[in-house]
Amino acid sequence: MVENFGESYHHIGTHAGTLQPLWPGGQTDASASGPGWIDLRHPDHPEAGTLGVYVVFPLFLLAVTPAQGSTVWYHLTPLGPERIQLEIVGLYPPEAAADADAMARDQATLFAIHQEDMAACERVQAGLRSPDAILGPLSPLEAGVARFREWVAAS
Ligand SMILES: [Fe+2]
Repeated sequence: MVENFGESYHHIGTHAGTLQPLWPGGQTDASASGPGWIDLRHPDHPEAGTLGVYVVFPLFLLAVTPAQGSTVWYHLTPLGPERIQLEIVGLYPPEAAADADAMARDQATLFAIHQEDMAACERVQAGLRSPDAILGPLSPLEAGVARFREWVAAS
C-alpha cells in the first residue's frame, strides 16, 4: 500500500480512466524525496490543479489538492504482515464540507480510486507470494518506492 501510494507511474494502467487524465503517471517528479519521506509532485491540470503526494515512512500518507483546498489522509494500521486496516479521511474547508452533494461525489470518487488500487495491490501481493517472484528494476518514475525500500532495509 505504501509503495503504491508513493509512485504515480501506475496511473497509466491502474487509474487510466480516473487519475491518469488529470495527473499523467509519466509526468511525475519524486526528486524532492529523501531518506525518510516521499514528496511526489504532479503537473498542473488546467481545472484540477496539481496533486501533492507525501509519505513519511512508514505509514503517514497524504494526498493534497490545493486547487480544491482538500487533503486526503490514508490512516493505515498494520494488522499483520499482509493485512492492514485503512481509513481514508477527507479533510475539507468548512464551506466545502457543508456541500453534501459535493462531499458525496468526492467520497464516491475516492472509493472508486481506492478500489482500483486494492485490485492492483492484491495482484502484486499474490505475485510476491510466488516462490519464483524476483523483484525487477524500478523505473525512475518509481523513485519513491526506491526511497521506501532503502528505509525498510536500513530499519
Ligand atoms: Fe493508486
